[in-house]
Amino acid sequence: MVSVGVNCLGRSFANPVVLASGPAGFGLELKPFFLRRPLGALTTKTITREPRSGNPPPRLVDAPAGALNSIGLANPGLEAFLADVLPEIRELSTVRIVSFAASDPSEAEVMAGRLGEASGVDLLEVNLSCPNVEGRPPACERGTAWEMVRAASDATSVPLLAKLAPDVSDVVEIAEGVLEAGASGLTLINAVRGLRINRDTGRPALARRWGGLSGAAILPVALAKVFQVREAFPEVPIVGTGGVTELGSLLEMLMAGADLVGLGLGVMADPEVPWKLAQELEAWLSRRDIDDCSEIIGCAHRGGLGVGETR
Ligand SMILES: Cc1cc2nc3c(=O)[nH]c(=O)nc-3n(C[C@H](O)[C@H](O)[C@H](O)COP(=O)(O)O)c2cc1C
Repeated sequence: MVSVGVNCLGRSFANPVVLASGPAGFGLELKPFFLRRPLGALTTKTITREPRSGNPPPRLVDAPAGALNSIGLANPGLEAFLADVLPEIRELSTVRIVSFAASDPSEAEVMAGRLGEASGVDLLEVNLSCPNVEGRPPACERGTAWEMVRAASDATSVPLLAKLAPDVSDVVEIAEGVLEAGASGLTLINAVRGLRINRDTGRPALARRWGGLSGAAILPVALAKVFQVREAFPEVPIVGTGGVTELGSLLEMLMAGADLVGLGLGVMADPEVPWKLAQELEAWLSRRDIDDCSEIIGCAHRGGLGVGETR
């Protein structure tokens, strides 16, 4: 019997597959799938203290092997989330990760405190890396990221993931900062800053010009960040996110060192894909006579699967 369960962050995950923040909203439309089969975890759309309508349209455009979005954290705000959304999410039997963003450390403290004391919140994720709001994301500067995470982690005993950006020269330096500030784990990566031009008008395709690139196109970028951070911090829980859309990319993400694997854009193309991949992973491990998923997590750092020299 193959085990695909993962224990980390003080929680038990039925498998390593996680719905990444955003594309699946609050996961409520996916309830029929949750009822049918287990899934590792659900990460909610990022919540902010006040409601946000997000950026003006167009805010989603195709890209080769992916898409560029500039949604801009559209969400109902903290109070509506606690009153109306969380009671429904509580009914989904999975690990519930609530994502939030704050404009400064004092807001991060309030958000983490309020969310952390609410029933049904298993883990928190502080989104330090949205590429689609005003100003530089906190994850682009070690000091700012440190302050946000320190304020949030001091306000709650619920384990806190810090979601980092790919658009930095040294992701290990930022990771070190947020871990020192109290993060229990890391989510790597958010969408990659990008641009598309509308060829008919000759102007940027998105109303806000820049957007965040997601989907298969960013897999190698995400793998590189996960690999680098895993090498620097062998014991830290990592949710590897970016470009995972099928079994092959899920396996690569685990082998690079992710304990859990987030799926974003892939869920918009096929809402059932997280559940399919969890099953395919189990079948793959079984075919290879691997008893436990933990045997492949980070194996790229340990000389691989021990199957000879073929790369
Ligand atoms: C439409 C859309 C909305 C997103 N909204 C959020 C969000 O609210 N918070 C967040 O942390 N990441 C958000 N993301 C980023 C994803 O969680 C993920 O980090 C990124 O898309 C890379 O993974 P992927 O290639 O599997 O999509 C969003 C991505 C997309 C495509």
